[in-house]
Amino acid sequence: MTMMNAIVLDRFGDPDTLRLTSVAKPKPGAGQLRLRVNAAGINFADTLMRQDRYAVTPPLPSILGSEAAGVVDTLGESVTGFVPGQRIAAPLFAAGQYYGGYAEYVLIDANYAVPIPAEVSFDTAAALLVQGLSALHLTRQASPQGKTVLVNAAAGGVGSLLVQLARHAGAARVIAAASTADKLAFAREMGADITVNYTDPDWAGQVAEATDGVGPDIVYESVGGAICTASLAMLAPKGQIVIYGALNIQEFALGVPDLLAMIFKNQSLTGFALAPLLTPEGLKADLGELFGLVASGALRVTIGGRFGLEAAAEAHRQLEQRETRGKLLLTRDAD
Ligand SMILES: NC(=O)c1ccc[n+]([C@@H]2O[C@H](COP(=O)([O-])OP(=O)(O)OC[C@H]3O[C@@H](n4cnc5c(N)ncnc54)[C@H](OP(=O)(O)O)[C@@H]3O)[C@@H](O)[C@H]2O)c1
Repeated sequence: MTMMNAIVLDRFGDPDTLRLTSVAKPKPGAGQLRLRVNAAGINFADTLMRQDRYAVTPPLPSILGSEAAGVVDTLGESVTGFVPGQRIAAPLFAAGQYYGGYAEYVLIDANYAVPIPAEVSFDTAAALLVQGLSALHLTRQASPQGKTVLVNAAAGGVGSLLVQLARHAGAARVIAAASTADKLAFAREMGADITVNYTDPDWAGQVAEATDGVGPDIVYESVGGAICTASLAMLAPKGQIVIYGALNIQEFALGVPDLLAMIFKNQSLTGFALAPLLTPEGLKADLGELFGLVASGALRVTIGGRFGLEAAAEAHRQLEQRETRGKLLLTRDAD
């Protein structure tokens, strides 16, 4: 049996449960491609899956990782239109596959495999899958055109792209909220007009002051808990809060007073989940748009950390300790 290295989760728990293990190299079935992975994306959702705190419970043992970029290694039966060596983005999650990316090789349904243009690196392509597509679809779910928008966790993987795409989609003003001065400086570099540290007890007052007491028209919310409640309370009349974070799912409570306030202010609350919005054709068009924005310099992808496969636990630790900004990747060349 041919073997490969992978990060295997065989029990739920802290980052140390992620162990480098030698496992059988997967064989592509009919309609599948096998990719040699150059960059596997790490998402916040992975850290919750590792603890069995996510909406989807991984079967054990599992290889985490719902996205990757690499080259075609082998074609399964009946696959046409791809050649070995071709550079491919693999949004595994879009094909309903939340696992497999943290490995040297991964299988993907060929319908969801998207060629990467020459001007886009493996790292950038991987960063644009879950996080880029989420940011893009969030701006469609709640169009920022002409609006004042608030982006929470603005220095994160989704957040740093969302700040830029909101600006690109015509936001009148982008307010970025995050937890440290460094992250806020980074959000400004990404194009935020106003930055607010939401660990400051008076952050809601600062947003109110920056919006002449009206509040943001749209809040893109991923944090949950008190940040979510405060974000809802500061929303402008007729405003929209879009709830999309996994942390949010863990810590979200709305009481009767919150709902009454929403009713009387004609506000709306929208849920957002990326995967159900994607089709094979739509995916190609969306990634084409994101790759084009990167190639033209209109969208900047920041890789906040490259780790070798064996350092997946350290990458998870940094992400859940809020130490990172931009995208974290497991890459071959980080070894
Ligand atoms: N609904 C969907 O389809 C969908 C798709 C993609 C992502 N998401 C969600 O979007 C959110 C962002 O994902 P991401 O992968 O881009 O992660 P990320 O934003 O790069 O990292 C998470 C960030 O959340 C903030 N945070 C606030 N409270 C935290 C806490 N208690 N523990 C850890 N972090 C905390 C931190 O920023 P500060 O230090 O600045 O607070 C941290 O850097 C996640 O909740 C993810 O599940 C949802």
